[in-house]
Amino acid sequence: MKSPATPKPSLAGTLDALDFDTRLRLGVEDIDGQHFRLFQAAFGFKRCIDEVPFSPSEVDAGMLELVAYTSDHLDYEEYVMRLNRNPYLSAHILAHHRFKKEISDIAQKNLKLEGKGKTNVAREAFELLVDWLVNHIERVDKTARAYMVRAGRDASRGAPRLSLNCRVAIEFADHVASTGTVTDVSVSGAFVSIPTPLPAWFRAGAGGLVHLLPLSGSPPLPCRVTRLDPERGVALEFQERQTIHFVSALCRAAD
Ligand SMILES: [Fe+2]
Ligand SMILES: [Fe+2]
Repeated sequence: MKSPATPKPSLAGTLDALDFDTRLRLGVEDIDGQHFRLFQAAFGFKRCIDEVPFSPSEVDAGMLELVAYTSDHLDYEEYVMRLNRNPYLSAHILAHHRFKKEISDIAQKNLKLEGKGKTNVAREAFELLVDWLVNHIERVDKTARAYMVRAGRDASRGAPRLSLNCRVAIEFADHVASTGTVTDVSVSGAFVSIPTPLPAWFRAGAGGLVHLLPLSGSPPLPCRVTRLDPERGVALEFQERQTIHFVSALCRAAD
């Protein structure tokens, strides 16, 4: 008798160990930014599911937003690859279409459910999305990377930046600290809006630690002030490579 198949472990449970920059980054600015935001949206959705008690309308809205954003991203990839005449486009599109159907069927099922059934299906959608994204980016998007660069753009230009609204405290030497709002972040740095006048400890080159607020015990992030920008705030450079764990922490901390 054939032994039952062992269920494949979900990558969604091990995402803390997944390094977006080294494992999933293609080096194509637009596409990397969209992949990064998709993971961010997925973690935001998971936060809604895990709330006790959860809000059914928030779960429904999050699910629909996730499906719409996934579809927009896949359509955009197809558009760019069509412009660049990718000879393997039809197989890539077929993979996208199959996934779009799968995730939108789950979303429809989710809308009709209530209570525990709804959160179970929503969790299934979260895991399906994360697993599919990681596998698809690594196995399919990476092989099509050369066809994803839009003409006139430099694929290796800067890291993708995200807009968000997340409260932080920045601690400097001698235990002085200021609070501010992260308005713009990438895997390598962030802009933090600090109420003026800026305290004296903000000067280019100063090293500090970024704490996410409210304080939750997550380790602070070593950073360095690189610039004081009168319009965008204080530019910080992270001193360590950031991972998907960082994205997840920002999602939890953002408004
Ligand atoms: Fe993609
Ligand atoms: Fe793709």
